[in-house]
Amino acid sequence: MTEPATAAAPAPAADTGARAIFEADGIVKRFGGIQAVDGATMSVGEASITALIGPNGAGKTTFFNLITGFYRPDGGRAVFAGREVQGRPPYMIARLGMVRTFQITKALSAMPVIDNMMLAAPNQPGERLRNVIFRPAASIRREREVREQALELLEVFNLAKLADQYAGTLSGGQRKLLELARALMTRPRFLLLDEPMAGINPTLGRRLLDHMQRLRAEDGVTFLFIEHDMEVVMNHADRVIVMAEGKVIADGEPHEVRADERVIDAYLGGAKVTPPGADGEGASE
Ligand SMILES: Nc1ncnc2c1ncn2[C@@H]1O[C@H](COP(=O)(O)OP(=O)(O)O)[C@@H](O)[C@H]1O
Ligand SMILES: [Mg+2]
Repeated sequence: MTEPATAAAPAPAADTGARAIFEADGIVKRFGGIQAVDGATMSVGEASITALIGPNGAGKTTFFNLITGFYRPDGGRAVFAGREVQGRPPYMIARLGMVRTFQITKALSAMPVIDNMMLAAPNQPGERLRNVIFRPAASIRREREVREQALELLEVFNLAKLADQYAGTLSGGQRKLLELARALMTRPRFLLLDEPMAGINPTLGRRLLDHMQRLRAEDGVTFLFIEHDMEVVMNHADRVIVMAEGKVIADGEPHEVRADERVIDAYLGGAKVTPPGADGEGASE
């Protein structure tokens, strides 16, 4: 278990020895009488793959919304790469490199998959009207780069064949992968994923996990992902943070967390979810 990270100094993330790239301190959110997030405090190590788990209603999604600018917290601080992010709008937080997947909107559904991808890239050509009219060589080069990057990512998620189809025609699972691929087009430093494996087939889930490992190894990308599948958490996360009733109740390596009484109690105390470790030690692929 870790001491709650204090806001002042960059505290080392638990056990990994890595520098914390993100710290939340006492984040609070009330919805009417419901204390959805109740003083959540955590730190996420740079270039870690950290899982955020907890029973349904623990406040995990709300916490994501609070730290990525979709909701304004009623209290607390969130610091990403040395900058306070709480209360800032999502686009500004995304520009700092802290990115959450966005749903494909109606407007995006009416565009081809490849255009969805290219629009997600920062400084994409055509962003400024001047570029459309004069098309300087640099703009054409940039467009080619962006297109290549987009096609590579679509390949990773098995969407390359669908590049020219309207995003609106994709299945639920494919749409989710496109949302993720769009987030990756921004080349994030810190990517937040809310149940990325849910609703996609196991083969693609596997590819997604491999891709996360590769981005972490090659580019030092940090991941914080909410996940219900304990096998995925135990086998793929370096660290696990557990929320229950709006608070962080445990934090450590997967094997530490699965053996923690408080965690087991939290799951047994009213969750539909399988408690960590219930599927036995040998849960490997
Ligand atoms: N927009 C909202 N308005 C009112 N209550 C909400 C809203 N969003 C979440 N809640 C409540 O906050 C609590 C935490 O929800 P949520 O963050 O979705 O949990 P989790 O993602 O861990 O399952 C729940 O009690 C939920 O009903
Ligand atoms: Mg949720």
